[in-house]
Amino acid sequence: MQFTDLKTQYTALKADIDARIQRVLDHGQYIMGPEVKELEAALAARTGARHCVAVASGTEALLIALMAIGLKPGDEVITTPFTFAATAEVIVLLGGVPVYVDIEPDTCNIDARLIEAAITPRSRAIMPVSLYGQVADMAQINAVAARHGLVVIEDAAQSFGASYQGAASCNVSAIACTSFFPSKPLGCYGDGGALFTSDDAIAQAAREIRVHGQSGRYHHTRVGVGGRMDTLQCAVVLGKLPRFDWELARRRALGERYNTLIRAQLIDRGLPVQLLAVRPDRDCVWAQYTVMVDQRAAVQQALQAAGIPTAVHYPKPLHHQPAYAGGCGADSHPHSIQAGQRVLSLPMSADLTEADQDRVVAALAQAVAATVEAAPATAA
Ligand SMILES: Cc1ncc(COP(=O)(O)O)c(C=O)c1O
Repeated sequence: MQFTDLKTQYTALKADIDARIQRVLDHGQYIMGPEVKELEAALAARTGARHCVAVASGTEALLIALMAIGLKPGDEVITTPFTFAATAEVIVLLGGVPVYVDIEPDTCNIDARLIEAAITPRSRAIMPVSLYGQVADMAQINAVAARHGLVVIEDAAQSFGASYQGAASCNVSAIACTSFFPSKPLGCYGDGGALFTSDDAIAQAAREIRVHGQSGRYHHTRVGVGGRMDTLQCAVVLGKLPRFDWELARRRALGERYNTLIRAQLIDRGLPVQLLAVRPDRDCVWAQYTVMVDQRAAVQQALQAAGIPTAVHYPKPLHHQPAYAGGCGADSHPHSIQAGQRVLSLPMSADLTEADQDRVVAALAQAVAATVEAAPATAA
């Protein structure tokens, strides 16, 4: 069993993807070829955002977003410590300061109610992460940002295709950034990403920053980066789009099915495992299907012995990472610390079969039961 089954996906899409790649090989415009604009138009239309700017990766999209708003050294960006390092990395790269706000323990997304207390005169932006494929509490976050004149940048690396109060992830804040890393809900065959906005000036800035800050050929208006997305990678994403709605529906169904099976085979039998909560006004596209268990190392080892690959997203919150610790104490953000110790991601992709999913849950039940049996009995 694979953690993310991309082979079955390629087999299903081979004709479309091969034809798309061949077309690029035939026209030879490997840099900023016609597929770049075609993909941008298709994704802007999908999300409802006025602009989509295809870039080299999700990390590059976040970096370009912060450059486009003119983040200066010393500026503070409020974000979650429970995310992939790239979220804070780009802030620190520009001399900014990540200011962490703890997560909601049941969704693992930033707790919007705690944001206002973290705002200072140096605050410039809020960067919530739509973790595991569920959009963070954007209505609350946008409201706080509006009260304090801050820009909201959704790190939507894991949530392309998700919806929030009827709107699409990547179109629920001033700027959004997604990733086409191969294992993401919408992936390419290498690195890729995109920035979304309905602000014309931000879109123009992002387009210029993507090509070394050029507003015209060899006219460098601003400092930029080499941040283009390859034409070939855009062609791969275009080749995947015809199946994407089916894949999203399948991911949602598999996520629900995991929940149902785990409730029946573990929770109802008193075995300790916690499911992620999905709020009623949004959905989850399950970039990762993640649960929480107490003795994760033992559970993971037992699953590995049963031939079931798992992963941990993420073992340490960023305030425990030397490069991104910031000024907060090691004991702060307790929900993020706890989540780092307990989260466990199970195999998930649109092509996961029900039979394999049944095997995963049966093995999980056995593994968790074994940890309970091995635990020392507590005094009555
Ligand atoms: C939450 C989050 N932010 C940013 C990134 C960075 O995306 P990429 O790997 O495309 O640079 C990722 C993906 O790994 C991610 O999961």
